[in-house]
Order: sequence, then C-alpha cells, then structure tokens
Amino acid sequence: MNRKYRKTVIAGNWKMNQTASGIKPFMEELKAELPQTKSCDIVLCTPAVMIPAMIRGGKECKVAAGGQDVSKYEKGAYTGEVSADQLADIGAKYCIVGHSERRQYHHEDDMLVNAKAKALLEKGIIPIICVGESLEQREMDLTIEYITYQVKAALYGISAQQLRHCIIAYEPIWAIGTGKTATAQQAQEVCEAIRIVIRKMYGARPARAVSILYGGSMNAKNAAELLAQPDIDGGLIGGASLKPADFAQIVKATTQ
Ligand code: 13P
Repeated sequence: MNRKYRKTVIAGNWKMNQTASGIKPFMEELKAELPQTKSCDIVLCTPAVMIPAMIRGGKECKVAAGGQDVSKYEKGAYTGEVSADQLADIGAKYCIVGHSERRQYHHEDDMLVNAKAKALLEKGIIPIICVGESLEQREMDLTIEYITYQVKAALYGISAQQLRHCIIAYEPIWAIGTGKTATAQQAQEVCEAIRIVIRKMYGARPARAVSILYGGSMNAKNAAELLAQPDIDGGLIGGASLKPADFAQIVKATTQ
C-alpha cells in the first residue's frame, strides 16, 4: 500500500451467493467486528438485484455497493442485461468488469471489457477492471506479457482524467477459489508490472495514483502480508467476503 498517493480499497465479490434478506444480519455481524475508524474504502459487489438492499444495509458500516457486471449497451432490446445507467440510478458506486468467471463462462474478451469499463465511466461508476493469467500462461512464463496486453486493451481510449476513477484488480485465475494464494512476491511483481504499463500509457502521476488490488484466495491470515507490498493497494475478495468476521479482519489488516 502507498497511502500517500492512492486509496486503499477492500472490495468483496459475493458472486452468486447470499440473498437480499441476508444482508441485514451480515451487516450486524460486520459492524460488531469492524474497527471504529477505517483506513480504507469498503465495497461489496453483489448481484444487481441486491444492490438496493446493500445500500440500505451498508450505510452504518460505510460499505459502498457495487455490481458484478454491466452491459456494454446504453439501452434497448438486450433481454437480461443491466445497463450502467440502471446501476447508477439505484446507487451503485462500483462495478466489477472482466472477472475471469465472466471471461470463462460468458466468453467475454478484452474488447468487451474495455467497452463495459467505458460504459460505467460514462455514468460515474468506478470500474474494477480484472486481469489475470491462467496457470498455463504462468508456467509458460507469459504472465507479464499477457497481463500487459490485458491492461492495455482494457484501458484503450480511456483518458487520464477517467483513469482517476478506475481500479485495477490482479486476479491470477489459478488462485481464485482454489485456496492457492499467489505469494506476496508473485502478487507484488505483477501489480508493479501493471503500474509500469500504466506509467508508459499515461505518465508517472496517473500511474502513481491508480489503486491496484490483489484477488485470489485472500483471507484473514494472508491479507496483511499481501497488503504490505508497495504496489498492492487493497483486495478483491471472494469467499472470505461472505464471512463478516473474516472480511472485517482483512479490513483491519489495512491498518498494519
Ligand atoms: P476467492 O477469494 O474466493 O479466491 O475469489 C477471488 C475472486 O474471484 C474475487 O473476485
């Protein structure tokens, strides 16, 4: 973390878990565990239908609500899709784009991720842009090249002014939901490489100001070591964000 130049963000990705009615008891437990003064922004990204309940329930704990996906289209005949305008209208402040599960199960490519990030920025929502390599790519020593490509494609056509409202999340696919965390060194190496790409694209100042999160089996035990790395400015947490005590512990790790 580097608090001098950028925000620390702890974001949970609930994926397709929990229900709107489960948010109140979750928040009561979270409130009891969270420190009084928080040294990071806290976000919980839920299915779009649960966002209003998250906004109501998250107020006291100062938890912002986020979505997990958005349509690249503004409006129209796209049955089942949710637009950036609709997310903004119900109060979403953040939205994940390019999560590896969407890339894998819904065949989303880098151009689509780019279009979705732009759609969100248009409506004042902060995109949390996910990138990450597969195990095969890591074993072939292609990690940095592949991540560089993903970051460049995701940010194509996004201005330096808009970049100030973007978050990048590095999530190695092999570490998601597997219990296999990247070591702090592995995560730092890639997050630093992401900042270098951004520096080449936008210059030193914007690169210094962009928050880069790590995601992939981050938990109450390993969070402090990961967050101590200079280029890791927070976490995008799946499984552990569903457990209030564990999630609070990760928030607490930002104060260390
Ligand atoms: P886990 O923390 O469950 O590995 O999930 C990470 C993730 O995919 C967050 O977006």
